[in-house]
Amino acid sequence: MIVITTPIAGQRPGTSGLRKSVQVFRQPGYLENFVQSLFDVLEHHKGATLVVGGDGRYFNDQAIQTVLRLAAANGFGRVLVGQGGILSTPAASAVIRSRKAYGGIILSASHNPGGPEGDFGIKYNAGNGGPAPEALTEAVYRRTQSIERYLGVESPDVDLGTLGNTLVGGMAVEVIDPVATHADLMETLFDFGAIRRLLGSGSFRMRFDAMHAVTGPYAHEVFVKRLGAPAASVVNGTPLPDFGGGHPDPNPTYAAELVAAMFAADAPDFGAASDGDGDRNMIVGRRFIVTPSDSLAVLAANAQLVPGYAAGLKGVARSMPTSAAVDAVAAALGIPCFETPTGWKFFGNLLDAGRITLCGEESAGTGSDHVREKDGLWAVLFWLNVLAVRGESVEAIVRDHWRRFGRHVYSRHDYEGVDAAAATALMARLREALPGLPGQKFSPGTVTLADDFAYTDQVDGSVTTGQGLRIGFDNGSRIVFRLSGTGTEGATLRVYLERFEADVQRHGTDAQQALAGLIATAEQLAGIAATTGRTQPTVIT
Ligand code: G1P
Ligand code: ZN
Repeated sequence: MIVITTPIAGQRPGTSGLRKSVQVFRQPGYLENFVQSLFDVLEHHKGATLVVGGDGRYFNDQAIQTVLRLAAANGFGRVLVGQGGILSTPAASAVIRSRKAYGGIILSASHNPGGPEGDFGIKYNAGNGGPAPEALTEAVYRRTQSIERYLGVESPDVDLGTLGNTLVGGMAVEVIDPVATHADLMETLFDFGAIRRLLGSGSFRMRFDAMHAVTGPYAHEVFVKRLGAPAASVVNGTPLPDFGGGHPDPNPTYAAELVAAMFAADAPDFGAASDGDGDRNMIVGRRFIVTPSDSLAVLAANAQLVPGYAAGLKGVARSMPTSAAVDAVAAALGIPCFETPTGWKFFGNLLDAGRITLCGEESAGTGSDHVREKDGLWAVLFWLNVLAVRGESVEAIVRDHWRRFGRHVYSRHDYEGVDAAAATALMARLREALPGLPGQKFSPGTVTLADDFAYTDQVDGSVTTGQGLRIGFDNGSRIVFRLSGTGTEGATLRVYLERFEADVQRHGTDAQQALAGLIATAEQLAGIAATTGRTQPTVIT
């Protein structure tokens, strides 16, 4: 079947694929326009295997049926689709790799709210299991603007609820267990015996909050079924199309329920949460929140305690706005540390080339070379493995880390939904001011570096520019200004604040207090209040 159509404007994928409101996605031909453009740009996919799944949000099931009909008409030989339309982002990556698939389509808007009034999204992952490289997403975008037809087959909806094989047109469709491949992979990396003993010891309790998003089934399988944790250890464990009305982003603002439980008198020993599509993680000890930048550093410093990483790390990488905590660990271990632009795709080449083993972002993404995505469940298991071996509390482990490596006090201030033109103007003005900043004194110190971050890929030599404005001070403090590439409404300004404390006894744990000088300097430099009309960030992490 060939449907003649006119191109749909504005389908430029952002940091993590094409993300828009459900209302936009439900326009006739909208999804088809993007998926057909992708298939038009891919090469040699005839007869190949495609992996398809999503985070279970509203419109997921319908979108999958559309993708199946287009895939069949475009000559794919087989589609592996998660039962119930479910596949977390890291699980999709694991399935692509283990089944040696051509690539995969993940239907998700990650941590953005879901439901008829919420967001929807689609992203393509390549055969290495990782996000499509920039050149491909650009080519897809160009194609979305010139496409004049899409292909489909007439075929009834596939029953996604039942495991097994069926046909759509001439294409085989295999409904697979969405959890097994990933859970099996976890067993090869972590000491499940040691974690089982910890969870069964009677003196250790955990709380994993799936936020009514995709990780519920994964957490039940791994923590409850395979590791013997009480069923009540997993909360909000049933995926709902609207995530129960919540905002499935594991940070202190949106995972307030977890934070409250972890600060209560009868708090468990270990708390964790994951996001809409299961790639982010939040780690909380009893009355102690671990920042994602510190978490990455702690995992790197303790990797030798975990079977999958006992042989040592080849190198580590972090996104530019992530704190330098992991750099300090890399220096101590004598291994390379790479600084990449925001977004997981930039880690892909380094992982594929065997240059790094662990990587992470300040936005609660942590992962390793086991897949080509960040992986929420993996990070939680890594922490559990370290806790099981060290027999100390989360807080004790982090404080010991600060004593050894110093503390990179860190916070991110988000100004969400600001006027896009105002945000662009703010960045433009600041960019112009950068050359004049080095040598200037501010309360956090003297500016030693002021640039617009550009990255040259160490493996393929490609250059990515305009990745965020960095202002570094002589004492290791830093402010970064960046506009989000994943928002769907207006613009989101992110301000990343970091200050190095070699002597950790000097300050308490209150990051906002320790960063007050930097926060004031950020305002002084950027005039956030005057430009955006906002005197306070929407979200502080
Ligand atoms: C955000 C995070 C970034 C992450 C991305 C996808 O992107 O900041 O680290 O890779 O979501 O999860 P942003 O909205 O900042 O472009
Ligand atoms: Zn996500």
